[in-house]
Amino acid sequence: MAGSTGQAGEQGWSSRSAFVLAAIGAAVGLGNIWRFPTLAGENGGGAFVIVYIACVFLIGLPLVLSEVMIGRSGRSDAAGSIAAVAEKSGVSRKWSLFGGMEILAAFLILSFYSVVAGWTIHYVFVMLGDIVSSFQAGAPFGTAFQGETQDMITGRMGELFGNPLELILMHTAFMAITVFIVANGVHDGIEKAAGTLMPAFFVLLVLITIYGAFTGAFAEAVSFLFTPDFSLLTPTAMNEALGQALFSLSLGSAALITYGSYVGNDVKLAPTATMIAFADTGVAILAGLMIFPIVFAVGLDPAAGPVLVFQSLPVAFAQMPGGSWVGMLFFVLIFFAALTSSISLLEGPVAWVIDRFKLKRLHAALLVGGLAWCVGLLCALGYNVLSDVRPLWFWGIFADSDILDSIDGITGKVMLPLAALGVSLFIGWRADRRLVEAETGLSAGTLMLYRLIMAWIAPLAVLLIVVFGLFPGLLPTS
Ligand code: PHE
Repeated sequence: MAGSTGQAGEQGWSSRSAFVLAAIGAAVGLGNIWRFPTLAGENGGGAFVIVYIACVFLIGLPLVLSEVMIGRSGRSDAAGSIAAVAEKSGVSRKWSLFGGMEILAAFLILSFYSVVAGWTIHYVFVMLGDIVSSFQAGAPFGTAFQGETQDMITGRMGELFGNPLELILMHTAFMAITVFIVANGVHDGIEKAAGTLMPAFFVLLVLITIYGAFTGAFAEAVSFLFTPDFSLLTPTAMNEALGQALFSLSLGSAALITYGSYVGNDVKLAPTATMIAFADTGVAILAGLMIFPIVFAVGLDPAAGPVLVFQSLPVAFAQMPGGSWVGMLFFVLIFFAALTSSISLLEGPVAWVIDRFKLKRLHAALLVGGLAWCVGLLCALGYNVLSDVRPLWFWGIFADSDILDSIDGITGKVMLPLAALGVSLFIGWRADRRLVEAETGLSAGTLMLYRLIMAWIAPLAVLLIVVFGLFPGLLPTS
């Protein structure tokens, strides 16, 4: 009887590996391939990467374990599971407010996630068009973007942004596919999608990375990513790194609690959590090693922001033999990764709607997906019709952000860290110790370390990073 109570007849994951694939699918996504290189580029590379990795293993990994555990023990949606564990522990059910915030965060992330994933669909079509025209030209393995200068290629992103109809169309297509899969349920929808898409993703990733390692400025990229310049480590950069670690591991956004609620009691959670963290970090680093050699080889600005990946790689595809094929595969790769993540983003709020309002899964998926689509619409229009809108104009660090960046910023820098703080305090101080011990299955020494992290290290680190990240003026030296 695993799973959210509203889903009569669903048994949860059919095996441990089904869960592991789905959870890695949730973790590996645009966060790894688009957001990580963007942030590493904007924050000077090495130093950011070190803080990021520290956040993943010191705070992220124990939190992954905690969230999956809360789900499995609570057997409900994110809010319901925290309430159930609180009840079992004899403490206030109000802790579930953090679950509510996770659900809201997932909803907001989904809205802009779908817009960015739409860009990848657009580029798949661009590449397909190139393949067709190279066939017509009698050279099927030619480069992409034939006859275009570098400025014309990078300028394509601006053209896309200036075309609201195309942006909305792709966003709609992506959201519709996500809704369709989630509506099919845990077993027939989510699990099947992850089982097909994730293996394909890893094959493509390895192929493209090998290809990339032989072209481009690999050494320069390695030194950019792994040589820290600590003077670049501003409080805001550290806040970005923490937010990115949480985002990339799908923490603080209902996904892991909800997926955890479908996990069988026989599954060992600690090794599973470790696998998720390693796979996710590995893919992020590989993505960096795939993108930065090209960025440096063609002299692009690593701090270009959210357009980095979409501008830099096409330039490379224009120079490689067979570039339109490699390009198409690359954007299909991002699309697969994004899809398994958006599924998990939608599943969290959907499970809550099913539990809370007793809606049918199909209706819940349509409702949540539809609402997130509306918010996404605003994000898409924020690049053209609404490009003057600055939703958080009153808040220094977000004052210049457009609609999409504002939602990305407020979820990543504020909501996810707050949820992480709540979950770590809850597990570290309030949850029943025997329950935690039994569910995590950790040995005595590791259990002590885990408790120390949840009770002290994670909350303090998160608090410090967030406070100084959001209000850098509080630091005497900055
Ligand atoms: N982890 C996903 C990524 O890196 C995004 C995500 C965030 C998915 C939160 C689920 C929940 O792209």
